[in-house]
Amino acid sequence: MTMTPKELVGKTAAKRIHDGMLIGLGTGSTAKWFTHYVAERVRDENLMVRCVCTSDATEQQARAAGLNVIPLGAGMTLDICVDGADEFNSDLILIKGGGGAHVREKIVARAARQVVIVTDSSKRVATLGAFPLPVAVLPFAAESTAELLHQCFEVPVTQRTSPDGMPFVSDDNLAILDLHFGVIQRPALLDQRIRQLPGVVDTGLFVGIAHEVLVAHPDGRVESVRPPQ
Ligand code: A5P
Repeated sequence: MTMTPKELVGKTAAKRIHDGMLIGLGTGSTAKWFTHYVAERVRDENLMVRCVCTSDATEQQARAAGLNVIPLGAGMTLDICVDGADEFNSDLILIKGGGGAHVREKIVARAARQVVIVTDSSKRVATLGAFPLPVAVLPFAAESTAELLHQCFEVPVTQRTSPDGMPFVSDDNLAILDLHFGVIQRPALLDQRIRQLPGVVDTGLFVGIAHEVLVAHPDGRVESVRPPQ
């Protein structure tokens, strides 16, 4: 049976793991395949690795698969972090947070010396912004922060809800606002401007964080994309 692009790219990234590594495990439907194949290699090859997880769901999966999960300690440097993305451009700037985990994802990625993003070709864009930009905010001020963001950037802002219609709450008890830019011309500047507003915890823009994006194509090729020199 042929693998889906998500499975293929997750399996490809898992080949980067070596004995003794400290690994950041991302969140989402692509990163979950990376976790799956890391666990398989750990079992089959008797590797000793330690893993830091970017969400409760990933932690559950990793523990159930027998991986050694540890908390992110002070001054810790991870050998590699592998995670998914909702969009990426040719500068390897990402939009993340479709699953609402981007606050932890950014913290874990920043702690890694090598950040590899696993995607399929649908995530590659010329200009970021068609995917609504997730912004994590304090629930206490979700409505007023939404209003502030709408006034500052003049784009529709919606508060994310769960399938039951209630406001979505992240693993860190944050609310998520989705900003519908359509087109983001200057992502680094936009990220700075949003982050300085009161009530905002972090955005889903990952600027200067990814070292490599692995892109799975429908024909079974996995392409490595690196930032321009
Ligand atoms: C989780 O909050 C996200 O950042 C995911 O990494 C991102 O949404 C990509 O997810 P998929 O691999 O499920 O598309």
